[in-house]
Amino acid sequence: MALNLVLIGPPGSGKGTQSVRIAEKYGIPHISTGDILRAAVRDGTPLGQQVEATLASGGLVGDALMTDLVRARLSAPDLRQGFVLDGFPRTVAQAQALDTIVTPPLVVVLIDAADEEIVRRMGLRRICASCGLTQAVSADPESNGDEPHDPCPYCGGLLVRRQDDEPETVRRRLATYAQYAEPVIAYYRDRPTFGAVDGLRPASEVTALLAALIERRAPR
Ligand code: AP5
Ligand code: MG
Repeated sequence: MALNLVLIGPPGSGKGTQSVRIAEKYGIPHISTGDILRAAVRDGTPLGQQVEATLASGGLVGDALMTDLVRARLSAPDLRQGFVLDGFPRTVAQAQALDTIVTPPLVVVLIDAADEEIVRRMGLRRICASCGLTQAVSADPESNGDEPHDPCPYCGGLLVRRQDDEPETVRRRLATYAQYAEPVIAYYRDRPTFGAVDGLRPASEVTALLAALIERRAPR
């Protein structure tokens, strides 16, 4: 059976980190709406021009645009074995739309993490400008976070800070999450295919918890 998996949770809870691992474990594509939008901004496409200011502000892109984008991506032929969807849905309207796009069962997992840990993690997050891999650099109490770091351990590329990881924008993204997340969680909470994991545990433990939950919710 295909594994149709949605990861929800606050910014910095580890959705991207875990999506990469789960996608590799089950051999299915990782679809991150944030990655798609950032790539569009970087490439200067019409979509990128449309969403650039919203991403920089830490607010949400409109439901209609996001739903069209996800509907198009989920109709691609590479999803026969399923997918990991990361960053969608963020509103109840998006969750309702997703139910009209995907054939059940849809496994939905909330990765939870407290705000203080999120702000700390975002300060240390870097993205490889070449291969796109997300990683954490070590904390230096003397540093303001902008010094050059070692190159990407996987491809030697330059590690850069995500534009929306400035502390002020992180706070706005957390406020946006607080405003929209609870109704989305309530939308899914009573489904037998919903679960939650503690994102404050070390990443490998979170992966193990997630894999165990997936096996229970969608036995393969
Ligand atoms: P998006 O890219 O989805 O950002 P986000 O939800 O804010 O989440 P992040 O990518 O910041 O965090 P993450 O949970 O993936 O954490 P990560 O694994 O990197 O969206 C960006 C923007 O696009 C939005 O603000 C919005 O404008 C727009 N957008 C996107 N989708 C939209 C939609 N559907 N509707 C409307 N607008 C939309 O981990 C973070 C750091 O912690 C990393 O450094 C990592 O190495 C580290 N880490 C991870 N796990 C652990 C662990 N267990 N222990 C210690 N460190 C860890
Ligand atoms: Mg992410």
